[in-house]
Amino acid sequence: MAVIDSRRGGLRRRFSWVTLLEAMATPHALDRYLELVDPMVTVRDLRGRVESVVRSTSDTVTLTIRPTRQWRGFAAGQYVQVGVVIDGVRHTRCYSPAGSERRRDNLVELTIKAHAGGLVSGYLYANAEPGMMVNLSQAQGEFVLPLPRPRQLVLISGGSGITPMIAMLRTLVDEGHTGGVTFLHYAFTENDVAYRAQLDAIADENPSVNVVYAYTGDTNEGHLRGFFGRQHLDAVAPWFAGSETYLCGPPGLMRGVRELYRSLGIEDHLHTEEFAPAEPVRGGEAGGTLMFTKSGVSAENGGKTLLEQAESAGLTPEYGCRMGICFSCTATKTSGCTKNARTGETDVEPDKKIQLCVSVPVGDVAVDI
Ligand SMILES: Cc1cc2nc3c(=O)[nH]c(=O)nc-3n(C[C@H](O)[C@H](O)[C@H](O)COP(=O)(O)OP(=O)(O)OC[C@H]3O[C@@H](n4cnc5c(N)ncnc54)[C@H](O)[C@@H]3O)c2cc1C
Ligand code: FES
Repeated sequence: MAVIDSRRGGLRRRFSWVTLLEAMATPHALDRYLELVDPMVTVRDLRGRVESVVRSTSDTVTLTIRPTRQWRGFAAGQYVQVGVVIDGVRHTRCYSPAGSERRRDNLVELTIKAHAGGLVSGYLYANAEPGMMVNLSQAQGEFVLPLPRPRQLVLISGGSGITPMIAMLRTLVDEGHTGGVTFLHYAFTENDVAYRAQLDAIADENPSVNVVYAYTGDTNEGHLRGFFGRQHLDAVAPWFAGSETYLCGPPGLMRGVRELYRSLGIEDHLHTEEFAPAEPVRGGEAGGTLMFTKSGVSAENGGKTLLEQAESAGLTPEYGCRMGICFSCTATKTSGCTKNARTGETDVEPDKKIQLCVSVPVGDVAVDI
């Protein structure tokens, strides 16, 4: 960048330190230097600093994160990819912001349930503290409320699936929606509801919002008991068939609600988000040899996805969702045929980017990991 130095009365070519450093390094490498000075000052990287940490139930942690200036905001229901370094290796997982998309402070609130044996969720539950830095992606995903907002809505969640649903509810409340919302949440007991106090406060302050808890465990609390069934919706939202329903929860709940809506011919009114694959991603035929070229490892093709087979061979490729939505497992297939386990499509093109978590090798396949 050339500037005129008027005090000396002449043209003097002066380079800002950013220009100079950018000339010496790529923008991403420059961020590596800048993070030594202040990790919140980045040229390209989107990161976040944890501002507060609340462990509201015995297995959930809520992080309030201030993102760097690159953050473009989110729509309620979307997710972000969060990257953390554990034992020197960066791992990425998807988490859905739980705040209102109308919040003005630009903060991102994530609530994470610690899964038994779960690497990233367990790490964050145990180690997150104010000041911790995480990598972030921009918000992604199509699971959002339409504009204009539907008049009446049913929001159904179970367990950690509460996050996108409370984000939608908080957004509707901030927008002054008065059409009527029934928020039906499934948990084991009242002690397992991460946002109980906040939900109760919303219900108290907004006559058009009906918050209903259904407990599947041994408790006398709650409005409904047991697993999802049509009788629950008939009891708390008898108008559900003529409204829009948004759903996120464990596979059993997702299956039950889907089956009901399908049997009534109203599946078009049901909008869903999965946190984990409803069915395990199906494998294919065993046979042939897999070459993981970067690591020099080879293995017999056992018919499972390339991600699972790479892991069985001792490799640790990056992954996020394990169901083909986040693209963090993308790698280059250098040769061979793969089948997409979700669409059934086969691909024989060499040097092609594939998602390891949903790609099943057919015969001999070489992948650049
Ligand atoms: C779009 C999207 C949004 C998400 N939003 C949230 C959120 O807001 N809050 C939240 O807590 N989680 C959310 N998740 C789930 C999250 O991304 C991780 O899958 C979860 O935290 C487990 O990661 P882990 O590294 O701890 O477990 P891993 O080490 O990857 O897995 C350990 C074990 O847990 C099992 N496991 C992995 N993921 C799940 C799961 N989701 N449910 C049940 N068992 C699982 C695996 O099968 C494995 O046996 C979301 C997932 C997606 C795809
Ligand atoms: S891990 Fe998310 S697409 Fe493969």
